[in-house]
Amino acid sequence: MEGKLVRLRGYERSDLEAIMKWINDEEVTQFLGGEILALPQSSIAEMKFIESAAERPALAADRSLVIETVADRKYLGGVAFHGINWHNRAAGVGIVIGDKSYWGRGYGSDAMRVLMRLGFDKLNLHRLWLHVYEFNQRAIASYERCGFKREGVLRKERFHKGAYYDTIVMGILVDEYRAMNP
Ligand SMILES: CC(C)(COP(=O)(O)OP(=O)(O)OC[C@H]1O[C@@H](n2cnc3c(N)ncnc32)[C@H](O)[C@@H]1OP(=O)(O)O)[C@@H](O)C(=O)NCCC(=O)NCCS
Repeated sequence: MEGKLVRLRGYERSDLEAIMKWINDEEVTQFLGGEILALPQSSIAEMKFIESAAERPALAADRSLVIETVADRKYLGGVAFHGINWHNRAAGVGIVIGDKSYWGRGYGSDAMRVLMRLGFDKLNLHRLWLHVYEFNQRAIASYERCGFKREGVLRKERFHKGAYYDTIVMGILVDEYRAMNP
């Protein structure tokens, strides 16, 4: 599925090389959740991630997709739905652009809009939510631009470089999405 700048697609084994370029880069991973990225990752673990992401059934609770450029099909990073809850029709979302030279140029917001389109228009979800650390102002600006609202704060939840920081909970409901995308 395509936006203005990026396309979301399934993982391929050939993505491994591009993933290994950022997966151990703390400038990127400091913003990501999941304790697994606190320690160095091997290419073996990443290949397993690729294979499990590619093999997940259509209605699995977690779905991960690659972000690639429309212009030249260059791998930029990934997006995911986490813990899709089919009863509440809600899902957590996550995003990373691993190639730092593409930060702040609109690619992340475009990828998030495509992910929202998938979540609301294809999967028929009702609510998307995410967690973002207070020191990740670029991400917060991007999410607000996409229509996410601040819903709450998990106080001093994130340990980062010797101090604790707030985690901000953001979310968007399908009606808000439809109002923005009539
Ligand atoms: C978060 C991320 C996906 C956003 O994608 P992006 O392509 O960089 O973001 P965009 O260019 O679409 O939008 C960034 C917004 O932040 C603003 N911005 C850029 N640099 C900023 C900075 N240092 N501080 C605050 N705002 C900043 C931009 O002006 C833009 O806002 P605007 O459209 O209102 O002007 C991307 O930066 C990324 O992958 N970062 C590392 C991993 C990460 O943080 N993942 C999210 C975890 S919750």
